[in-house]
Amino acid sequence: MNIKELIKGMTVEEKIGQLNQVAYIPATIDGIEDRIREGKVGSIILAQTAFAGNDSPCSVDYEKVNRLQRIAVEETRSHIPILFGRDVIHGHKTVFPIPLAMAASFDTELIKKSYECIAKEAYNDGIKWTFAPMLDMSRDPRWGRIIESAGEDPYLAQNVARAVISGFQGDDYSKRGRLCACAKHYVGYGASEGGRDYNRTEISEYTLRNFYLRAFKSAVEADVGTVMSAFNEISGQPVTSSRYLLTDVLKEEFGFKGFVVSDWAAVKQLIDQGVAENEKECAQMSLKAGVDMDMVDDIYNKYLLKLLSEGKITEEIIDEALYRVLYIKEKAGLFDDPYTAPVNVDRAFNAKTAKEMAEESMVLLKNENNILPLSVSDKIYIDGEMKDDTRSILGSWTLDGIAEETVTVFEGINKYITPVLNEKDADIIILAIGESHTVTGEAHSLADIDMKREHISLAKKYKAEGKKVVGVLNFGRPVAMEDGEKYFDAIIYAWHSGTQTGNAVADILFGKVNPCGHLPVTLPRKTGQIPLYYNFTKGSRTVNEYYDHADNRFINNYDDCKGSPLYPFGYGLSYTEFEYSNPRILSEKNGEYVVGITVKNTGKFDGKALVQCYICDEVASSMRPIRELKSFEKIFLKKGEEKEVLFKLGEKELGFYNMDNEFVVEEGLFTVYMGGDAYCENKVSVRYIKN
Ligand code: NOJ
Repeated sequence: MNIKELIKGMTVEEKIGQLNQVAYIPATIDGIEDRIREGKVGSIILAQTAFAGNDSPCSVDYEKVNRLQRIAVEETRSHIPILFGRDVIHGHKTVFPIPLAMAASFDTELIKKSYECIAKEAYNDGIKWTFAPMLDMSRDPRWGRIIESAGEDPYLAQNVARAVISGFQGDDYSKRGRLCACAKHYVGYGASEGGRDYNRTEISEYTLRNFYLRAFKSAVEADVGTVMSAFNEISGQPVTSSRYLLTDVLKEEFGFKGFVVSDWAAVKQLIDQGVAENEKECAQMSLKAGVDMDMVDDIYNKYLLKLLSEGKITEEIIDEALYRVLYIKEKAGLFDDPYTAPVNVDRAFNAKTAKEMAEESMVLLKNENNILPLSVSDKIYIDGEMKDDTRSILGSWTLDGIAEETVTVFEGINKYITPVLNEKDADIIILAIGESHTVTGEAHSLADIDMKREHISLAKKYKAEGKKVVGVLNFGRPVAMEDGEKYFDAIIYAWHSGTQTGNAVADILFGKVNPCGHLPVTLPRKTGQIPLYYNFTKGSRTVNEYYDHADNRFINNYDDCKGSPLYPFGYGLSYTEFEYSNPRILSEKNGEYVVGITVKNTGKFDGKALVQCYICDEVASSMRPIRELKSFEKIFLKKGEEKEVLFKLGEKELGFYNMDNEFVVEEGLFTVYMGGDAYCENKVSVRYIKN
């Protein structure tokens, strides 16, 4: 397909039509066929409502999609196919763990494999474009959308970004069973002030480049087809009207070749944000900034022609946006294969992969006196509001998930044992507690993430009765459990883990699976500590007590709470023990270092260790983080087995964006820490000297 030639033959109206995305909400849709015939529909978002995240299901099917496609292909003058998109976030019919949980697996191969399964199921319903991955790093677990993210760390987010994009797109997303991905929400949305959704953000260029932009840069390098512009403003400038962010940085500096779609009605929102007086101005500002497709506002459709006739925009700028849209349609294979023809989906394989993903994601936080794994001869009583839950446990943004397929926590455990009917007869109480999916996701932030009184009371009651209490915590986001944690003998942070939650929980509880998830986000003691994250910059006297446990009022932030988290970033126990020793530098040449550490499984079970490598740039022209994750490897060790894990560190890892926005590697001392979480103590020093 010669896109330039195609564009030459199009009328301006047809061109503008391609920049318009229409919502196909079955309950309200009206006259979409005619609009397609008129050439006014470049894309359709298959949504439920404007707040799709938690709404009740309303599925799509490929025949309906094909019917609409036929109108575009056969009845319009340009014959250009429609790109159909839907929010396929962490599963389609088979629901995988929420993205935050998948990040906790630190297993990028498995994440990729999961998204391959997800893509096939979604493709079969006529979906060719998804609005994922969400790459908004967030330091605020009050924000409902943290569950859609990879957590607080940019390096982890970069790796997850590559894995998800490659899972969805493969190396050629024109193929059947593949979806075009969308990196969202560009950029800074995760920094919404106070964790309140859609709120303003205040992010310096230094922080933006060193933290928030990094996953998006990786997404572009991974050839993501599309990028969604975020709702938020950054320091006074809405992203949707920021030519600097969308064109100068994303398209020119990063080299993004695909198209930018606005978020839902984000173009019109420029009026609410007070930078545009009317819809026409919104259209002008967004297009000029670099938003190529208008999601559902119908504003490009209504005003671009007028703006052109008034000389406020040029046809070149329309053509540039159009080129990008058609380029992606071409890459998605639509010109050759516009219709969906179902591919073979092995749902049993997908369920198996979803289970594997859930197992790898769950984090063992506490295991006093090795109460876990349980034995089938234990007398167990199961309590808690999540034990029979089939829907919340699927998580937010589960438009097509089938709750009837969910294996509940109770059902999973029931495959191993018959729980006692009366708590009096039990020695061990499994408490499956958590939060509803309806308090997570879009437009669902919480002011208080402290563990709820009723959960604490329940655990306390059983503890007082002399029972051993095992918590299975099905939360979407971190819960601050300082007041409740002491009443649990063991805690598995089991997230909203999707269709296979119960099977994964049971296999972990009874030791068939050794837990190996690690926290992608800090668990604070109390809500009031937020923001609390591991990679903050070095401080002066008021050092954040995240790392420093000394009882010193000049470094302790609060009089009523310790400054450290309850569980740090990267933390996660196993049923076995891992010993880290002999940190060393194996080679140093041309600014490239190979460092290594020995890891030994000294416990009683085979298991997986997540070996993490952090650096600290000790002296630099700008203040650098106390620690930054730069590499990780999940390894399997049989009991008694020992392995050496090596990490390569070069300019990419040692460098940062300086105050002039240049990526630099500065000479000097770096400390490299290696071990099992952000607190790891084993370290070596390297001195970087330029060649
Ligand atoms: C708004 C959300 O912010 C975005 O993530 C989603 O993809 C769109 N709505 C479409 O549903």
